[in-house]
Amino acid sequence: MSGNSYLPRKLHSLLGVIPLGLFFIEHALTNYSAFEGGREGFLDSVHGLHKLPLIFFLEMFVIWLPILFHGVYGLYIAYQSNLNTGRFSYGRNWAFALQRITGVITFIFVIWHVWNTRVQVALGHTTYDEIGNHMHQIVTQPLNFTLYVIAVIAAVFHFSNGLWAFLVSWGITVGPRAQRVSSNICMGIFVIVSVLFLLSLFAFRSDEFASAAAAGAAFGPVTFG
Ligand code: HEM
Repeated sequence: MSGNSYLPRKLHSLLGVIPLGLFFIEHALTNYSAFEGGREGFLDSVHGLHKLPLIFFLEMFVIWLPILFHGVYGLYIAYQSNLNTGRFSYGRNWAFALQRITGVITFIFVIWHVWNTRVQVALGHTTYDEIGNHMHQIVTQPLNFTLYVIAVIAAVFHFSNGLWAFLVSWGITVGPRAQRVSSNICMGIFVIVSVLFLLSLFAFRSDEFASAAAAGAAFGPVTFG
């Protein structure tokens, strides 16, 4: 790592965990409330979030700016790196390559996902109260559902494997034993967070979120655009 990339690399690494990792877990739990509490439970979670003070600034500094920096600088890192360095063990080489591949998938997915959720609310095509029905419309289309499943698993892998790498690069897990233990913990996080997101996708497909689907039909079927 050359001297002048040290600070941006460190910032990129930190932002991946704080605040993006924390936001990511929060997002998994909010969505999971659709599985556990159905329509009402999900609406309660959404309303709870929108009652937070200074929500515009929270979103700006906890989500938009960090993801913009981490995502764009991450693409640059991925573009620059040699995927088959032979520096590590076979498993670590794979993890290194997958960290970059899943970063690129996450980048594309985030743009698409934000377009068909947050931007549609901003354009007045749907509202936060109807967002569950809106998700229903999206994920009941088989192609969209398949893309969501792939992208969600890729993003969760990116976060969990990234957390492992973060603990090493910040000198928190130093020896091989600590790294083995953290590998098991990060694997557990991968499984749990994936399950939370996948169950919420199935919940949004259920009829419970179909009732007001007509409300979202105002701007037609959701496509790639
Ligand atoms: C938006 C698209 C994204 C791209 C293109 C991207 C790209 C990358 C790349 C290339 C790395 C490896 C850096 C290295 O090894 O030096 C990385 C690390 C990481 N990313 Fe992302 N990422 C994205 C989104 C996210 C999101 C949404 C999260 C949070 C859930 C996240 C969490 C992490 C973590 C925790 C690391 C590990 C940091 C470290 O190695 O110390 N990333 N990202």
